Amino acid sequence: MKVAVLQYRPEFLAVDANLDTVEEMLSEVDADLVVLPELFATGYFFRSTADAQSVSEPVPGGKTTDRMVEWAREGKYIVVGGLVEECSGRLFNSAAIVGPDGYVGRYRKLHLYYEEKLHFEQGNLGLPVFAVVDRSGQPYTLGVMICFDWYYPEASRTLALEGADIIAHPANLVRPDCPRAMPIRALENHLFTATANRIGAESVGNRTLTFIGQSEVCSPAGQVLVSMTRDEAGVAVVELDPAESRDRRVTDHNDLLADRRTDAYVL
Ligand code: ACM
Repeated sequence: MKVAVLQYRPEFLAVDANLDTVEEMLSEVDADLVVLPELFATGYFFRSTADAQSVSEPVPGGKTTDRMVEWAREGKYIVVGGLVEECSGRLFNSAAIVGPDGYVGRYRKLHLYYEEKLHFEQGNLGLPVFAVVDRSGQPYTLGVMICFDWYYPEASRTLALEGADIIAHPANLVRPDCPRAMPIRALENHLFTATANRIGAESVGNRTLTFIGQSEVCSPAGQVLVSMTRDEAGVAVVELDPAESRDRRVTDHNDLLADRRTDAYVL
């Protein structure tokens, strides 16, 4: 199957224009799974909770999820992308998962970064995985985490224990470390990861966040299969076999997950 990660510079709070840009960028993409950045159509560095509220929407049923479903129908792929979810007056930094048949599910970011804590509630849906199929009908299990969740190896480990073959990882990375860490998250859990980051910068007052690009797809062997630069806009596509993640034997005597010493760990 083919996995695509999209990297670009959204215009702050310009949801309609950003949705049009992403639609155009996806128009020629041949893939089974498309991963878009965190908060992909809104921008990131909200000046106030009112800013975040102004671009929030229910999931499903909002304009962003609806457009993602259109793209998924057209391209016959699964799409994972980040958005501001509004639910009963509360805001979540969420990802919607959609496919050619419509809405599949959502994930609400567990580990909020920096001033996200001022605007969003912590995710309260755990770390769900989704049973999906590629265009040839081959089933695979998709896990989702959002940006700073990478800093918590427990998140990717939980997704591995739940059977994820691939972790879709929408991101708005500003710290430099994640591109080095994701091959390790992939290796230590023996699964694929697909990180879609944004580029550009946003400021509030004299504080500026610069987004580091470097979207990448990593393999269960800890290899970077494809990576983008710090400032390019585009879509990177790589072919992989999700079944490669399923044999988690390290040697004839070692099974990566079964050999965990949960009796000795502090959780
Ligand atoms: C981040 O979690 N957006 C850094």
